[in-house]
Amino acid sequence: MLLKKSLFIISSAVMLAATTSAAIAGPTNHQVIAPTCLISAAKFSFKTLSNQQGVSLIEVNDAGIQQLAEAKHHTKPACGGFMDVSRAWESKQALRKQTPATFLAGHLSASKKSLTADKPTYQIKHEKQVTALIETITPANMWENLTTLTSFKDRYADSNNGVKAADWIKAKIESIAKETGHNDVTVYTVSTGSRYKQPSVVAKFGNSDKPGIVIGGHIDTLSSTWEDKPGADDDGSGSVTLMETARTILASGMQFEKPIYFIWYSAEEMGLVGSDHVVAYFQDKNIPVEAALQLDMTGYAYKNEPTMWLINDFVSKDLTKFMETLINTYVKQPVKYSKCGYACSDHASWNQAGIPAAFPFESEMGHDDPYIHTANDKMDVLSLSHMTDYAKLATSYAVEMAVPVSK
Ligand code: BES
Ligand code: ZN
Repeated sequence: MLLKKSLFIISSAVMLAATTSAAIAGPTNHQVIAPTCLISAAKFSFKTLSNQQGVSLIEVNDAGIQQLAEAKHHTKPACGGFMDVSRAWESKQALRKQTPATFLAGHLSASKKSLTADKPTYQIKHEKQVTALIETITPANMWENLTTLTSFKDRYADSNNGVKAADWIKAKIESIAKETGHNDVTVYTVSTGSRYKQPSVVAKFGNSDKPGIVIGGHIDTLSSTWEDKPGADDDGSGSVTLMETARTILASGMQFEKPIYFIWYSAEEMGLVGSDHVVAYFQDKNIPVEAALQLDMTGYAYKNEPTMWLINDFVSKDLTKFMETLINTYVKQPVKYSKCGYACSDHASWNQAGIPAAFPFESEMGHDDPYIHTANDKMDVLSLSHMTDYAKLATSYAVEMAVPVSK
């Protein structure tokens, strides 16, 4: 504790010294969009580039990013999250100078330079196949995989542990593809830029170039500098729900008209950095995407209630409504709606790019797992049956959206 305090004083002094000079010194400067309320409570130094609609574009160093990432537990009342927009900022600056005000306005209006083709229609058409398929989901696989993921001291985006966790996920999906006899699964990594060493992991199922169906979760946790970060619920739960969804689909032998992309993002906790790089990669390579589903925290059932929650901000209304239809048809659990209040997970990176996104969530906001971002984010408070329900939802979404090919 003493060490922690004195280190904090030293780093604050360094940052204080930095603000007096023209630009903020530090290993890396980050451009960040955050609600003004979060920044006004900040104990780090920053430079304001623009302010609009209660949101600021600021420049901070690495220490500032660490403090923003941990702010959830220090800001009362809770005041939204932040987005690290350094990649977009640098590419815009390289192309042509844009004023900070124009840059921020562009982000706020979520410019719709979409990758996708037509607006999809959402319909239940494969009830027989989906009903049979979701019976083959094996909950024990999720528990076993979660035991492995939580055994890393952390899965921090800039630690060796974080890189090892990403390597493990990559090896796991590769072995599933091999064991299920697939030569039409392509597994690759997408770099998270120069600041974070943990990459995102992408597994593409199918060889078609049609607009794809994305399902994602995030690998990373905060750093374990002060305490271990097992990240069982946030987002070990979503990561293993995604893995079991992938295994179920690959083991089925089904083929689809559209490709399915299973994506484990890096550096979500650092301001959606991994998913921002993945979306930019898809845009760069002209890979079209029809819809993106985010699985971030699927394991904690408040008072053991089986209700499934759908986040209804920073998402597509239509796709979210389709989630309700899928739950009613296949999972058969009560459905309710809640709000994050801000861009709280990676679905927001797709939504920002104009791709329809949805975010089913474990509980009502405020009744979610109280231990996330701490050493107590462990498996003991999680519900395997709740996680299984989200695997059923994700599997039915993928099959209905990607369209099975009849053999
Ligand atoms: N899994 C959380 C998001 C979350 C937590 C949603 C609790 C709903 C309830 C995510 O990993 C996270 O911590 N997000 C950050 C924001 C992010 C952009 C840095 C947050 O919520 O503070
Ligand atoms: Zn999370």
